[in-house]
Amino acid sequence: MGGDSLSSHAHVIGWGKYLPQRVLKNGELSELVDTSDEWIRTRTGIRERHLVEDGETTADMAVQAARQALEVAHFNPTQVELIIVATVTPDHLFPSTACLVQDMLGATRAAAFDLSAGCTGFIYGLSVAANMLLSGAYRSALVIGAETLSSITDWTDRATCVLFGDGAGAVVLQSGENEGGVLASSLGSDGSGGDLLWLPAGGSRIPTSQRTLDERLHFIQMKGREVFRFAVKVMHDATCEVLEKAGHALGDLTLLIPHQANQRIIEAAARSLDLSPEMVYSNVEWYGNTSAASIPIALSEAAEKGRIQTGDLVVCVGFGAGLTWGAAAIRWTRPQPMLAPLRRRIVRRLYYSLARIRSRFRRLIRWLSAFGIKDGLNGGRRSKE
Ligand code: UT7
Repeated sequence: MGGDSLSSHAHVIGWGKYLPQRVLKNGELSELVDTSDEWIRTRTGIRERHLVEDGETTADMAVQAARQALEVAHFNPTQVELIIVATVTPDHLFPSTACLVQDMLGATRAAAFDLSAGCTGFIYGLSVAANMLLSGAYRSALVIGAETLSSITDWTDRATCVLFGDGAGAVVLQSGENEGGVLASSLGSDGSGGDLLWLPAGGSRIPTSQRTLDERLHFIQMKGREVFRFAVKVMHDATCEVLEKAGHALGDLTLLIPHQANQRIIEAAARSLDLSPEMVYSNVEWYGNTSAASIPIALSEAAEKGRIQTGDLVVCVGFGAGLTWGAAAIRWTRPQPMLAPLRRRIVRRLYYSLARIRSRFRRLIRWLSAFGIKDGLNGGRRSKE
């Protein structure tokens, strides 16, 4: 934890993304369901998406993206004080994926929790983290959006299976006195639309049973057209609202990074905001909709490609299950990063291997104490005292 004194700004100082190796092209989907490359491209703009290999999980991808973000930030995992993972596809209902990430990174000083706000999860996470930094409670945070949507996709439902992909994106936030960073955020919700996009079973209302499995209630269900209409409206409204909160006008904007759900939604939002296509980042063609991961993946890619420069005003805007929506306005303050010296990179890699050993060692200690060995030692010490 930090010094509990108010800090003035929360800067994005690192970014990273991870897409799993396996690529699924539209043509392959038309062998699974009654669809075509042409329908998918014209209705969504998507050509392909990445999917995890067997055994690869949300936490694994989150760690890869986080390591890259830490590398860009020239940060060691022990400097991270807070980890937020936004996801609707955690490795388990509990423990949180954030705790798994904390352990795998060896971020020994970090508090960690998951956040569920559908595809808007990363914006919610960014807003929470930035405000915790501004309060002075923390000085640094890792905000990650990571999803294994392939694990909750109904591969027999053509209305949804063509849309989604897997991946992770991450940013490192650090508090600082210099101007810029996350200038403002604007979040919203409307639970009355919860059933427009949901995963019905597996929670306390409809616990898992043979019936829920037979009825395929553990897969995403969506009323696409209604989500589409909602999306275009809130993307416009949230962008305008966050710019106003930040004391800026649309004319000051350098780049809009929208949630990557559908190229038609992105274009409709751009039209309603009167933004030229160059001012709106899109990569939905190559990754599909990766839910909470889509904005940090796009943000990282835009930064890597030099589409964001120091001094630029960037707005990230998203919408999703809940229903939720949100936007964050960021004044970019980090220059293009230099690669850390080889020695530091090797040390960090060694540290990650050590984190694995540390984790096993802690499990061993717990296992030993379960057999009373450690208690025996403690007991011995107590009796001496
Ligand atoms: O992150 C937030 C999550 N979700 C979204 O953002 C999704 C928002 N919605 C959308 O992107 C669009 O509504 C979809 C891409 C899901 C669907 O596009 P649409 O233009 O709204 O199509 P539609 O649902 O109105 O369906 C048009 C037709 C229907 O056939 P009929 O009833 O006109 O005969 C569908 O059955 O297209 C049919 N259809 C398909 N045809 C071929 C639906 N999915 C497919 C498919 N291949 N994959």
